[in-house]
Amino acid sequence: MAASDTQALRREMVDICRRMNASGINQGTAGNLSVRTGDGFLITPSSMPYETMTPEDIVEMDFDGTYVGRRPSSEWRFHRDILRRRDDIDVVLHCHSVYATTLACHHKRIPAFHYMVGVAGGNDIRCAGYATFGTQALSDNALTALEGRLACLLGQHGQIALGKTLEAALWLAIEVETLSRLYVQALTLGDPPVLPDDEMERVIGQMRRMSYGLAPDAEGVNDIARPRGGAG
Ligand code: 13P
Repeated sequence: MAASDTQALRREMVDICRRMNASGINQGTAGNLSVRTGDGFLITPSSMPYETMTPEDIVEMDFDGTYVGRRPSSEWRFHRDILRRRDDIDVVLHCHSVYATTLACHHKRIPAFHYMVGVAGGNDIRCAGYATFGTQALSDNALTALEGRLACLLGQHGQIALGKTLEAALWLAIEVETLSRLYVQALTLGDPPVLPDDEMERVIGQMRRMSYGLAPDAEGVNDIARPRGGAG
């Protein structure tokens, strides 16, 4: 694919990366981002601070691991494997946000201590086992932890958030960080109670019906309100 065909997407990726840092969920050369394109994916280059990264620095990769441009993120394997395995998402975002990584340093998953855990698609946010960064073993562990989920923690490393869009993945990563912070804080008062599975099923059903957390004009219903002048 010619670089000019992906220019808008490259610009959007740079914007999302800078917003990752501005929101406080990432810093330095940590973190990486990828987006599916027609026949492969675009991914951030390795070891480049987002402040200096330009759309031209974004790397184009095929699913066979070949690339055009700069050296791709050291984590291209998990980006590639997740995008290949999960056709329900088009974006993979990884960062070392402080509270999520604090839990991951203890290999703690986030249980349903708060209903918003449901935004990751289940009744917990798992923590993947540790493996050296950039390895196939880390990718395999991440895929296991992400089964049926849109986010996971990475043992002694950070977090991964998935999305259909760049905005959705950034939103979810910030939510995971907020939940992690809340959980660390809740743990200071003892083990918080956990919502039962049937309640989490209701929560997740409600989130799906309302397209909860997606753009306010996304498809979805709200039981109570309806637009003024609308039918029904
Ligand atoms: P890259 O700069 O190679 O993407 O690495 C950052 C990182 O977070 C590794 O896990």
